[in-house]
Amino acid sequence: LDIEELAGTVHIGIIGGSGLYALDNLAVIGAVYPYTPWGHPSDHITICATASGTKVAFLPRHGKGHFWTPSEVPARANLAALKRLGVRAILAFSAVGSLREEIRPGDFVLPEQIIDRTKGIRPASFFDKGIVGHVPFGDPAGVHAAPARRATLICMEGPAFSTRAESHMYRSWGGDVINMSVLPEAKLAREAEIAYQMVCMATDYDCWREEHEAVTVETVVATMHANKDNAKRLVEAVIPDLEVAVKDLEAPFFDKIRGAAKFAVMT
Ligand code: ADE
Repeated sequence: LDIEELAGTVHIGIIGGSGLYALDNLAVIGAVYPYTPWGHPSDHITICATASGTKVAFLPRHGKGHFWTPSEVPARANLAALKRLGVRAILAFSAVGSLREEIRPGDFVLPEQIIDRTKGIRPASFFDKGIVGHVPFGDPAGVHAAPARRATLICMEGPAFSTRAESHMYRSWGGDVINMSVLPEAKLAREAEIAYQMVCMATDYDCWREEHEAVTVETVVATMHANKDNAKRLVEAVIPDLEVAVKDLEAPFFDKIRGAAKFAVMT
C-alpha cells in the first residue's frame, strides 16, 4: 500500500505486545513500512478494515519475530508512522506482572496512572535540537473506556525482571501492575496528540509473593498464549465505540489530547 495515499485516513491504531503479533479477526487490506525522520517502525504496519469499512492500523511493538527489546523499540518511528496514517486513538496491548493478589494471571487491567522506572536510555520525546516542549501528562490515559479497575502501572527498564526488594517497593508505592513497554510510547502519543490507552494483560505475579516462584518468560508466554483470543475479542468489542469516538476531534473524548503539543512549545 502507498503511505501517501493512506495518509490521514486511518484513525484507529492498535499496538500489539508480547504474544499479540497479528489481528486476524479483521479483514487485511495490506501493509505499509514507512520511513520516518526517526527511522522505520518496529515492523510492517498492517492496515485492516472493520465490518463497517473503518480502517485500523496494527503494529506489533516488538516486531513479528519479537526481535526488539523493550529498551530498543523504535517508539518515535512507531508513533510518527501512526500519526502520518492519521491515527487519532491507540489501544496498546502489553503483558504485565501483577503486584496485587486480586489481579490474577489472565486478568485485563486498564491503567490510569504510570510511574516511570525506565533509566533514561530511551529517546522519549519528539522535542529536541532547539525545540523545547513540555506536554501535560498528569492524566496519562487518554481514552476512557469505562475502566473496570483504576490501576497504576510501573514501567521498568529491564530486560531482567525486578528483584523481590524492588517488587515490594513498587507495591508500597501503590503500583498495581508492572511492564517494560508503556514508556516512552504513552508520552510520545501525548506529544503527537493521539488519545492512548494501554490494555494490560496480567501474566504473572512478578516476584513479591515469597511462597511463589518468581516470574519467568515461560510463564509470561504461556499465559499470553492462552489469552490471545481474549485480546482479539476485546478489540472486536471496543471497535464500534472507537469508530464513533474518533470521528470528531472536537468531541469531549479528545479533551485531554487537544492542543497538548501545540501549547507545549517554549522556544
Ligand atoms: N511483563 C510481564 N510480566 C512482567 C513483570 N513481572 N515485570 C516486568 N514486565 C513484565
